[in-house]
Amino acid sequence: MAIIEVRDLYKIFGHSPKRAIPMIKQGVSKQDILKKTGCTIAINGATFSIEKGETFVVMGLSGSGKSTFIRCLNRLIEPTAGEILIDGEDVMKMNQEKLRETRRYKLSMVFQHFGLLPHRNVVSNVEFGLEISGMDKEQRRAKAMKAIKLVGLEGFEQSLPSELSGGMQQRVGLARALASDPEVLLMDEAFSALDPLIRTQMQDELLELQARMHKTIVFITHDLDEALKLGDRIAILGPDGRVRQIGTPEEILSKPADDYVEKFVQNVDRSRVITAGSIKFKATSITHPREDLVAAMRVMEQKSISSVFVTDNQRKLKGIVTIDDALALQKKGSHDITPIIQNNVYTTSPATPISDLLTTALQTRYPIALIDDEGVFVGGVSRAAIIAEMSKGMDEGNAPQTLSDILDSNGTNPEGGEQWAG
Ligand SMILES: Nc1ncnc2c1ncn2[C@@H]1O[C@H](COP(=O)(O)OP(=O)(O)OP(=O)(O)O)[C@@H](O)[C@H]1O
Ligand SMILES: [Mg+2]
Repeated sequence: MAIIEVRDLYKIFGHSPKRAIPMIKQGVSKQDILKKTGCTIAINGATFSIEKGETFVVMGLSGSGKSTFIRCLNRLIEPTAGEILIDGEDVMKMNQEKLRETRRYKLSMVFQHFGLLPHRNVVSNVEFGLEISGMDKEQRRAKAMKAIKLVGLEGFEQSLPSELSGGMQQRVGLARALASDPEVLLMDEAFSALDPLIRTQMQDELLELQARMHKTIVFITHDLDEALKLGDRIAILGPDGRVRQIGTPEEILSKPADDYVEKFVQNVDRSRVITAGSIKFKATSITHPREDLVAAMRVMEQKSISSVFVTDNQRKLKGIVTIDDALALQKKGSHDITPIIQNNVYTTSPATPISDLLTTALQTRYPIALIDDEGVFVGGVSRAAIIAEMSKGMDEGNAPQTLSDILDSNGTNPEGGEQWAG
């Protein structure tokens, strides 16, 4: 269910900005419009919806309109044209009081530079919003303490912001946003001011917190790695303020919508995002005991493959049969494949990133079997597919030829596949 719907949204800064809209629609560039009208296009016809409980990342380079966008959602900036619905309610039509209420209970903002009141201690910073909304002291204190606990700041209630590290200050900012238990968190570059290490830690904690809270989060960043790590979906803004692509991290990496997005993502370590499930081949398998040697040989010949997975009639994996064993069996004149089903197969979940499968792929001559949460065999991943996927987006000269090349350049030795015990 969509909690935020944005339709054909424009924000143009300058005098009589509406006259720039027809020019935008005629394809006049941002620079030319600025030259001719003095108007700056910040958001250029954005349309999308954000689902309840999702982390929606808006990413783009400096000046692409990210902050403008997030501030339009709660009308800290007045949009020039378009529609914004929060829980089905039209934000543009809200009067001041309704808007205040919406900002207070539906949307909460976390700012890049924390925005704490320097002379108030942690707990009174966290309860500030509730205080100005007129909540009585006992109630707001209880809510503030709960939020402080959520972000792991227990014991620092009486500290002043100046006594806290950057990471801790941003936790206060987060607690303040969480105190009113809003449906939506708006986070504008909330971690950008932090040291890299603290930043990574805060990202991990946000993921953990989100797994428990299931809030809707709109997260702004100019950092692609951060976007890929946090986003259920990512919207990429171009320099002209236009949304270039909206998709899951995987979709954006594997099917960039245009040259701009492709350039943007070309240096990303794809292997950490692309999952085994997305490069699996269709489950070439036979069902045992219904099918026997003839079926196994036929499948391998038709598909020109040297092994085939064997499942039972519930599609539970039984093992793998290789072409060599099958030929030997055929020579003996037997049809029952039971003795040649090997169970030294590696298995993994479709959600495993391929970076975790490199070592496994190197160790096995056979494809890795994918088993879903219900224990059902859903396909296989071949070495060749992993290499091909890793090579995408690399220069031809640098593309790895073998898995060893990849492991060398990766410097890691992860073990994502499990040896299957049969
Ligand atoms: N108050 C304003 N008046 C005029 N132009 C503005 C105003 N605020 C933003 N802009 C312009 O709108 C465009 C988008 O700015 P915005 O701050 O939304 O970008 P951003 O993506 O958040 O950038 P950053 O990563 O630097 O924070 C820019 O061209 C900017 O110059
Ligand atoms: Mg900004």
